[in-house]
Amino acid sequence: MPGARSYRRFEDVVRELTGHKHVLPVHQGRAAERILFNSLPVQRRITLSDGHFDTTIANVLLAGGEPVDIPGPEAREAAPHPFKGNLDLDRLAEHLDPGHRGPKAARVILTVTDNAGGGHPVSPDHARKVAELARAAGVPFFLDAARFAENAHLITRRDPAARGRTAAEVARELFRLADGSWCSMKKDAFGNIGGFLTPPRTTNSPNAAATCSSPPKAAPATAACPDATSKPSPPASPKPLTLTTSPTARTPPPRSPPSSRTPACPWSPRPAATPSTSTPQPSCHT
Ligand SMILES: Cc1ncc(COP(=O)(O)O)c(C=O)c1O
Repeated sequence: MPGARSYRRFEDVVRELTGHKHVLPVHQGRAAERILFNSLPVQRRITLSDGHFDTTIANVLLAGGEPVDIPGPEAREAAPHPFKGNLDLDRLAEHLDPGHRGPKAARVILTVTDNAGGGHPVSPDHARKVAELARAAGVPFFLDAARFAENAHLITRRDPAARGRTAAEVARELFRLADGSWCSMKKDAFGNIGGFLTPPRTTNSPNAAATCSSPPKAAPATAACPDATSKPSPPASPKPLTLTTSPTARTPPPRSPPSSRTPACPWSPRPAATPSTSTPQPSCHT
């Protein structure tokens, strides 16, 4: 069989982990995003996520789409919750409703763990519901799996239904809910660099990599997103991008004072923390 043996090993491991047939190795997670958002177009459409990571935001905008964060209500509360990475299912259903006014969803993304939202995990039950809603709406569902191992480990600790299961088993199950995934593998001690993309069949054209290396095509003016205060910068502009903040972009949940932190079990009940008085910063739009 042609090609490096190390690549074949890599492909086998990723296939076994994800259950997805097609595996593209990439040098970083952001390269996977660049390929993905240019080969499965998002122009003038939105992508919905518990929390887009900075590089994901940039790649969606570059491809002419609009990233919309819909973090779950628990993410905004100081009160502990085991899975603050979960997104807002009601808002997801609203956006996926065929009668919804405004740009259509091109992609649903669960970022596991939700890095932009403080590294909180997503629960398997929740991921299942997200997958069902996305599938019913015919919208591809992806995992941004940069910290999938940590997410799986936290599930084994926090989800009573996962008691006795290994993180690997939990991770395999999570990946199989999604139509595709990408992963920055310089996390969770996997390596210094690298990553993968497991595109669904529709992106599995020999042109996918070529699409990535050519500059993104100019998109027509992006339709205003109902959740955005301002329109995103035109894609493929020669000027540097100015990323915008939408009201749906998360503001960090209020922080607990250090003295009230319980490192061993931070999601177990404890007195509500006093919200910080510091001004919340937009997560990643600068
Ligand atoms: C959730 C998430 N997605 C994507 C990326 C981008 O990956 P990379 O830095 O390998 O390009 C990161 C990197 O930190 C990340 O945490």
